[in-house]
Amino acid sequence: MADMIPFIDLLAQQARIKDRVESAVMKVLGEGRYILGPEVSELEARLAEFAGIGRALSCANGTDAILIPLMAWGIGPGDAVFVPSFTFASTAEVVVLAGASPVFVDIDPDTYNMAPESLSEAIEAVKSAGELTPKAVIAVDLFGQPADYPALEPIARQHGLKLVSDCAQGYGCTLNGKASLHWADALTVSFYPAKPLGAYGDGGAVLCRDDALFDVMKSVRVHGEGKERYEYARIGLNSRLDTIQAAILLAKLEVFAEEIQMRQAVADKYAAGMGNAVKCPHVIAGAQSTWAQYTVEVEGRDAFRAHLAEQGVPSAIYYPIPLHMHEPYAGYPLPPRGLPVTEAAAKNVVSLPMHPDMPDADVNRVIAAVTGFRAQAHGSRRSCPSVSHT
Ligand SMILES: Cc1ncc(COP(=O)(O)O)c(C=O)c1O
Repeated sequence: MADMIPFIDLLAQQARIKDRVESAVMKVLGEGRYILGPEVSELEARLAEFAGIGRALSCANGTDAILIPLMAWGIGPGDAVFVPSFTFASTAEVVVLAGASPVFVDIDPDTYNMAPESLSEAIEAVKSAGELTPKAVIAVDLFGQPADYPALEPIARQHGLKLVSDCAQGYGCTLNGKASLHWADALTVSFYPAKPLGAYGDGGAVLCRDDALFDVMKSVRVHGEGKERYEYARIGLNSRLDTIQAAILLAKLEVFAEEIQMRQAVADKYAAGMGNAVKCPHVIAGAQSTWAQYTVEVEGRDAFRAHLAEQGVPSAIYYPIPLHMHEPYAGYPLPPRGLPVTEAAAKNVVSLPMHPDMPDADVNRVIAAVTGFRAQAHGSRRSCPSVSHT
């Protein structure tokens, strides 16, 4: 078996930015303000500047980043929050943690992002059932590309719902040059190391346009603190960002725009080289993806992955089982027509290596392995029966 190329190469990025990261970390160590130090406020200002809209509040991780606005809006028992099922656990988990009920919504078959018609149907169904009060929608910018906000926002507004962009994978993505916060009430980010803008530990942020919301979220971030220290206005969290992580993120933010373009170049080479061998990602018109993942669809996924592995190409499945099919989420409402697109996508998607520092030799190896599978499948269908699904 050939040597494996990396799926994500954080060490290659480390080597490229080593000097700026090391001096930033040493500065924090010398200053001694390890939690919510000056780098944290500076990072918050830069995050909003990079997004081109709103104000940013840092927090401990991308999960808390979604929970904080829900808590700030007082969403809780008896409330419905509409979420995709084809996402990481956090998107629905925070709704349950807030005491509310997630209602799962289907996705678009090409972008894997929330399908507007399914959202409308889910809202109508919840309203006519009359058991839950619709309160918010959490759209996910899955794999780095913005959800269809121009279609989702009017639906949310028509029903008086808050709109959150779970931009954990897509901070830096744009639609017609605008960040998702242009449409959403809150945009949430994860700085988990493997994310496009990753720290060297956990971290997160939530951006919003409304000053009153910002003030309440700031209080929620630190135990619900009021105007004075040790005075509490509400129940909150301990969700502070370490100063060292903020300093690392400031250094990484300097090269982030360039890294998005480096990822785009890899995506362009993949699309050109793979042709029709697999279903390549579809990015909606006017969007810039951050390419958190390069996710293709293929029939005979197990055989495909085994073939890639033989060629030294790792792959991953995001996500093999949609959330509504996991036991803790199984009892929550689905739209009347169910989630057929979500369930089909979960059977066929495969994510390929993607990172900004990918050398051409690795890109070409992935392309050769992908196109080689197709050729092999055509040449030896008898010996490879698992390549066709029924
Ligand atoms: C779509 C989505 N939402 C939320 C999160 C949660 O982020 P974190 O791991 O920083 O809590 C992630 C990260 O894995 C994610 O991919």
